[in-house]
Amino acid sequence: MKITKILVPVLLTFILAANAVFADVKTETILKDIVLPAPVKTGGMPLMDALSARKTDRTFSKEELPLEVVSNLLWAANGINRPDGKRTAPSARNLQEIKIFVVLPEGLYAYLPQENALKAISQEDYRPILGKYPLTLLYVADLSMQSKHFASVDCGFIGQNVYLFSAANGLNAWFRADINQTVLSAKMRLGLSQEVLFAQTVGYPR
Ligand SMILES: Cc1cc2nc3c(=O)[nH]c(=O)nc-3n(C[C@H](O)[C@H](O)[C@H](O)COP(=O)(O)O)c2cc1C
Repeated sequence: MKITKILVPVLLTFILAANAVFADVKTETILKDIVLPAPVKTGGMPLMDALSARKTDRTFSKEELPLEVVSNLLWAANGINRPDGKRTAPSARNLQEIKIFVVLPEGLYAYLPQENALKAISQEDYRPILGKYPLTLLYVADLSMQSKHFASVDCGFIGQNVYLFSAANGLNAWFRADINQTVLSAKMRLGLSQEVLFAQTVGYPR
């Protein structure tokens, strides 16, 4: 009797601990890196028409963006547009200190412009913090490379690229400073020199 009393809790603890470990492994392995389709770098709406249509609109449908659109959007945002590795958005002293993270319903990814891919970071749901939108970009600066002043300006160029791409492709866009940086930094396990400066939500109009 006494042995069962001791064994049952011990076994239960073991099973629960094993489950927790496997749950973690599952979380790490399910979310896969995504190789994006090659971005389309030509054509589209004339620039003056896109400027005429550029606006902030905070209403979004639940419809997810196809990967082709995500690829074009990220290339427009801050992709590589020259053989020397320079970008569609300028950065002070070409330090390229802004990394774009992409919040999708299935989890968090990092945009890798060289590979034209989304690197799987976490399967956690970020939408309770940022709102239930199909896609939100997080602009994370490495402030060991660049001052916050210049990093903020560099984010602005990326943000405007995203606004213009959105205007040219019938998407709504919303640049956002009012985000919970502390909660996001902790959840993303950012380094001490990294900071989420801004977010930008993009999606189809509701
Ligand atoms: C640096 C910056 C921060 C912004 N932060 C927010 C924000 O936290 N919340 C919000 O609703 N809009 C935010 N906006 C969007 C502005 O409110 C919007 O651009 C402004 O009202 C002008 O509207 P328009 O973009 O349609 O021209 C921000 C815009 C910029 C440039």
